[in-house]
Amino acid sequence: MRPVNKMNYPKLRMRRLRATKNIRDMVRETTLSKDDFIYPLFVKEGIKAPEEISSMPGQYQYPLKDIVSAAKEVVDLGIPAVMMFGIPEHKDEAATSAYDEDGVTQKAINVIKEVFGDQLLVIGDVCLCEYMSHGHCGIVEGNQILNDPTLELYGRVAVTYAKAGADMVAPSGMMDGQVGAIRYALDEAGYQNIPIMAYSAKQSSNFYGPFRDAAESAPSFGDRRGYQMDYANKNEALRETEQDIVEGADIVMVKPALAYLDMIHMTKEEFRMPTAAYNVSGEYSMVKAAAANGWINEQKVALEILTAIKRAGADMIITYHAKDAAKWLKE
Ligand code: PBG
Repeated sequence: MRPVNKMNYPKLRMRRLRATKNIRDMVRETTLSKDDFIYPLFVKEGIKAPEEISSMPGQYQYPLKDIVSAAKEVVDLGIPAVMMFGIPEHKDEAATSAYDEDGVTQKAINVIKEVFGDQLLVIGDVCLCEYMSHGHCGIVEGNQILNDPTLELYGRVAVTYAKAGADMVAPSGMMDGQVGAIRYALDEAGYQNIPIMAYSAKQSSNFYGPFRDAAESAPSFGDRRGYQMDYANKNEALRETEQDIVEGADIVMVKPALAYLDMIHMTKEEFRMPTAAYNVSGEYSMVKAAAANGWINEQKVALEILTAIKRAGADMIITYHAKDAAKWLKE
């Protein structure tokens, strides 16, 4: 260890700087702020009123007609950004609803941007699983998930989002070359200034279960281990992330967050890129379930988790706790 302490106990007493709240605040190294948060929003076609997601208490699927009021809550709390996910009525094997200019996701992006303009940054999650009848993130042939033909569809989705007014796109499907393909498609369509937030180190994680209820996107056969990363691999995460940067990622992401603090730290140290962390559905639901049982203090535990994610090196956190945390931080 570096010789930081020139003296030791009893001359040195670490507790001196812990004595009062003011002094603790002065020496606090990591500050959490609502400016760090991105809130995920789900818009669903064919429902009449917001529906609570049973495995994610406090989170809702919204019909298009309620999406502006859902976004308004976010704006009123001073949260700077949302991540849009859409659940279409029609799903097929070509994910046609995903790149439909009149699709529910595109409409939601459009109306939010029309009402809130620069007050709210809208990021469109680019994936196909919510739009595919089989729930996989790419085109399926037999039991294979095809890489290259899927890229073209990602490009089309990204362009329809940009056209609808999205400020940023975030490819999460984990096909090789997706960042480059989307950059190319956006540039071709005249959207050179739309940044890409790449889900770079996205693990094949068991923490996505509740999200798949929310997005109705669980694969109907097999799993995602043929395209999402093996969560045991750190070197591979570096290579994935480097590849995304080479292809043109403006922001890189580690996902999930809480069980992957080492990867967040490593990614920030290694690349010095703007780094996002996705505090995913299962991480949220565990906190909610334990809190509902009275086993933990929801507020304190959630703030501790979010602070830890930031301390690890995340510049921004996509989190279902965003609205609550913004309120708690104001108190
Ligand atoms: C779609 C996608 C997933 C999540 C974000 N985008 C699910 C998956 O890969 O199965 C997970 C988010 C969460 O769990 O909160 N590809």
